[in-house]
Amino acid sequence: MASRWVVANWKMNPRTRAEAAALAREVRQGVEELAGGAQVGLAPPACFLYDVGEALRGSSILLGSQNLGWEESGAFTGEVSSAMLRDAGGAFTILGHSERRAHFAENSEIINRRLKHALRSGVQVILCVGETLRQREAGLAFTILDEQLRGALLDLSPGDVKGLTIAYEPVWAIGTGHNATPEQAGEAHARIRAYLKNGFGEAAAPVRILYGGSVNPENAASLFAHLEIDGALVGGASLNARSFTTLVRLAS
Ligand code: PGA
Repeated sequence: MASRWVVANWKMNPRTRAEAAALAREVRQGVEELAGGAQVGLAPPACFLYDVGEALRGSSILLGSQNLGWEESGAFTGEVSSAMLRDAGGAFTILGHSERRAHFAENSEIINRRLKHALRSGVQVILCVGETLRQREAGLAFTILDEQLRGALLDLSPGDVKGLTIAYEPVWAIGTGHNATPEQAGEAHARIRAYLKNGFGEAAAPVRILYGGSVNPENAASLFAHLEIDGALVGGASLNARSFTTLVRLAS
């Protein structure tokens, strides 16, 4: 297995450039002291990409965005392109986060456009999928995962999946303090793995599957101990350099 990947999704935080740069510097210092085996990524808000990129320059920590436009430039108000991301030193983007789906009406078609463009322009993608509590209780969790994967990965060739990572993020676990158990996550990851293998064959073998949803220093060790879990996408606990660095240590 490739090394585990621990990615910080800062969402719409912190408030200022200075705080963003300071947090990035603290994380960098913590990660460099560890000299551990896990790969680390930070996804700040778009307006902080340059400052965080500066703070990370020369380090092994990857910089990413929380979304990405599907064209390189032009009349797309509110969007950030892969060229802009790369210019800031960025290497990856998060796509299809449940908050984008729920609050900004991003559907499979939009996510699929973003995803194809990102991968084909050399930006690594962390595609988020996950069911709501109601869907889980109705026994539909796997159906939803299959549907979201099918929609987001439409028209992708086996060659395209090289830069792909999936994050299983059950909506009921995001920001709630109720993480999925390692068994629940492991089961979902196995399903995702099977879906990818079926669609892309051996090309999908290196695709990492991260877990996201209330990952914190208390529950991370048991999650990372599960064979199917290749890392974590972390919201709340990534805003504190010490907790985030602890997660990186536990993943190493
Ligand atoms: P959380 O967020 O760690 O705060 O639950 C995870 C995410 O939304 O990526």
